[in-house]
Amino acid sequence: MKTILITGGAGFIGSHVVREFVLNYPETKIINLDALTYAGNLENLKDIERKSNYEFVKADITDAKHILEVFEQYQPDGVIHLAAESHVDRSITNPLDFVMTNVIGTVNLLNAAKTIWQDASTGSAQDFEGKRFHHVSTDEVFGALGDEGFFTEETSYDPHSPYSASKASSDHFVRAYHDTYGLPIVMTNCSNNYGPNHFPEKLIPLCIHNILNGNPLPIYGDGKYTRDWLFVIDHAKAIDLVFHEGKNGGSYNVGGFNEWKNIDLVKELCKQMDEKLGKEAGTSEQLITFVKDRPGHDLRYAIDATKINEELGWKPSVTFEQGLSLTIDWFLSNKEWLDHVTSGDYQNYYENQYN
Ligand code: NAD
Ligand code: DAU
Repeated sequence: MKTILITGGAGFIGSHVVREFVLNYPETKIINLDALTYAGNLENLKDIERKSNYEFVKADITDAKHILEVFEQYQPDGVIHLAAESHVDRSITNPLDFVMTNVIGTVNLLNAAKTIWQDASTGSAQDFEGKRFHHVSTDEVFGALGDEGFFTEETSYDPHSPYSASKASSDHFVRAYHDTYGLPIVMTNCSNNYGPNHFPEKLIPLCIHNILNGNPLPIYGDGKYTRDWLFVIDHAKAIDLVFHEGKNGGSYNVGGFNEWKNIDLVKELCKQMDEKLGKEAGTSEQLITFVKDRPGHDLRYAIDATKINEELGWKPSVTFEQGLSLTIDWFLSNKEWLDHVTSGDYQNYYENQYN
């Protein structure tokens, strides 16, 4: 039986990737390796946790020894690496956590893969046949765009936040292991995701949570910052496609051709929430509050997804209005999930953030 090890599978995007692989490839063993940080939650996988091709392993990717043991035990044929510290605001207060997980953790995984895949025989490039390391990265490595243009696979790296600097560094290490040791890799750089299981520190789920609780909707700066939003299940499908069919050593930009200024996005969200909650139009918008800007805030991200579309036939399956509606419906029927993930540390975090 083939084995694929997915890191960060208890997180937002990782849980959708794990589900996609467990259900689509019943003949493949899927190992979900996750440290279960504040962002990891096994509730995200309740529906598939009893499937016979699924197994969870609690491990921290910063622990090189343990990671190598896990690789030796399970002998994965493929790795899909999503485990990361993922929130820009947290990277501004705790940059070292991002270096540890996103940079050192990634190198630990690359070393473990190289070790078990090469030990198999002679230490030559042939050892890697049938193996693949898929690194899941972000469009933030490319920096900020002005009012026009798109990020392509050829855009130079220009990260501005400690988060994007750590992801850029991990991307460079992944390419270095390909160029130096012949490790078979593919990489995806995706735009902003949204959807079920999104941790409510990020803009969309934070606003949903705050509308439900009558709390302010904090908009950084003037709200004119622009992001390109993609429904998370479409990202999971892109990862499936690139993992199986992407060219060795290649990278693919993934995005929705769906740009929104933050303020317009939050107003659209307020409109849909009012309708779904049976409130008078304009009620939720009154919660919008402009707050101090994020330091080093990137003005605009926008992905040119032509390569993945033309080479692999990928395109988003839902419009933003459909995806947002599905997302709100999910949050409205999973209030216990929201209560669970916003208990404990979450309150302390937000008290420190805005006081
Ligand atoms: P997330 O924060 O929701 O989940 C991260 C997961 O990684 C959690 O389950 C957490 O427990 C786990 N993790 C963190 N540190 C770990 C460690 N040291 N060892 C093992 N597990 C650890 O993140 P996400 O939003 O789902 O993002 C997943 C990946 O996709 C990240 O690499 C991120 O950079 C990338 N990405 C995210 C987006 C987005 O919009 N969220 C867009 C593009 C790319
Ligand atoms: O572009 C891909 C990236 O998208 C991923 O690599 C990151 O892991 C993911 O967190 C996300 O980064 P952003 O910084 O774009 O996402 P966030 O939801 O934090 O912010 C989206 C925009 O909204 C950004 O311009 C900042 C703004 N914002 C955010 C929050 C949390 C606000 O105005 N108010 C807020 O409270």
